[in-house]
Amino acid sequence: MPASETVTTRGNAAEPTPETLWAAVLTAARWTRADELEPELRTFAADPADGLRAVADTSPEGLLRRDPSLGWITRASTAPVARAFFDLYLPICNAAARSTLTIGHLGQSLDGYIATTSGDSDYVTGPDNLRHLHRMRALCDAVLVGAETVAMDDPQLTVRRCAGDNPVRIVLDPQLRLRAAHGVFTDGAATTLLVCDETHLERAGQQFGDAELVGIAMGQDGLDLRSLLTALHARKLRSIFIEGGGKTVSAFLEQDLLDRLQIAIAPLVMGAGRAGIHLPAREHLADCMRLSPRVFSMGDDILFDCDLRNAGATMAMAQPSTSASHRIV
Ligand SMILES: NC(=O)c1ccc[n+]([C@@H]2O[C@H](COP(=O)([O-])OP(=O)(O)OC[C@H]3O[C@@H](n4cnc5c(N)ncnc54)[C@H](OP(=O)(O)O)[C@@H]3O)[C@@H](O)[C@H]2O)c1
Repeated sequence: MPASETVTTRGNAAEPTPETLWAAVLTAARWTRADELEPELRTFAADPADGLRAVADTSPEGLLRRDPSLGWITRASTAPVARAFFDLYLPICNAAARSTLTIGHLGQSLDGYIATTSGDSDYVTGPDNLRHLHRMRALCDAVLVGAETVAMDDPQLTVRRCAGDNPVRIVLDPQLRLRAAHGVFTDGAATTLLVCDETHLERAGQQFGDAELVGIAMGQDGLDLRSLLTALHARKLRSIFIEGGGKTVSAFLEQDLLDRLQIAIAPLVMGAGRAGIHLPAREHLADCMRLSPRVFSMGDDILFDCDLRNAGATMAMAQPSTSASHRIV
């Protein structure tokens, strides 16, 4: 298959709708979290009403299998559009309750910027990628952003473009420079945690607007992000979607605390702007990260989904090609 080929099978009446596929993914995530699956049930069809419905292992309706060691996997016979959908979202559903899963996402221009120099990022990527962001929020326990994103965008960080529950919202503001008037601290739409340098807690108290203040020790490079993830895990916040901006995603990447990195590239040229990923300079190309992404097309945008831990481990039966771009409905 040529590298630029996009798999398109729209119009096939047998294909489940995007809403049915999403209901299946949400149900898979919910069952994994609740650990409420009966072991003898192994093969499932997408069901518009219930999300997933157990079927016989040999049923042609079966799209997903539940493997005791691998978790949710796509059946080899599943049609390409549904398979691409599951390949993208099942790794998030398979997050084990024991460990933390962190996913960083940035939407950037062809020339690598996530916002103009003045901070305008409304919007870099198109509606299909924005829906993907909302799906990722719905699948994760928490969505996390840096102070500059709240200062510039005043984002809601809620789930509005798909079905699903709002995650806990986390803002990194070590010096407490933000104002309590931002929507994320006042709208009551979801729990918000404001993470600051722990030395500010005595002066600032426990609340910031409606948000709870969480004090974390400062390390050499800012907040001690490893301690932060431990503190979040203790609060049962185990899948963390790091939605920007560039400085925040880069800090997790640099400290080797990202499990997945998702970069969506839009056909947009800014010429100058705020950088996406920026890491300390390396002299030799051989010392730079070369990743093995899976590639998905979202409208006019291309999403590179990189497993930074264990390439291949999440795609057992139906291995998606890394060289083709699969359309996400
Ligand atoms: N296209 C996209 O995908 C996307 C997504 C989100 C945001 N944006 C845009 O990107 C811009 C903001 O991005 P940005 O890179 O400038 O900033 P950012 O990542 O949103 O926020 C950076 C700030 O957050 C705090 N912070 C983050 N990580 C920290 C750590 N490990 N330790 C201590 N503090 C930490 C620091 O606050 P202090 O400075 O107070 O120390 C830091 O300066 C905005 O223009 C926004 O519109 C674009």
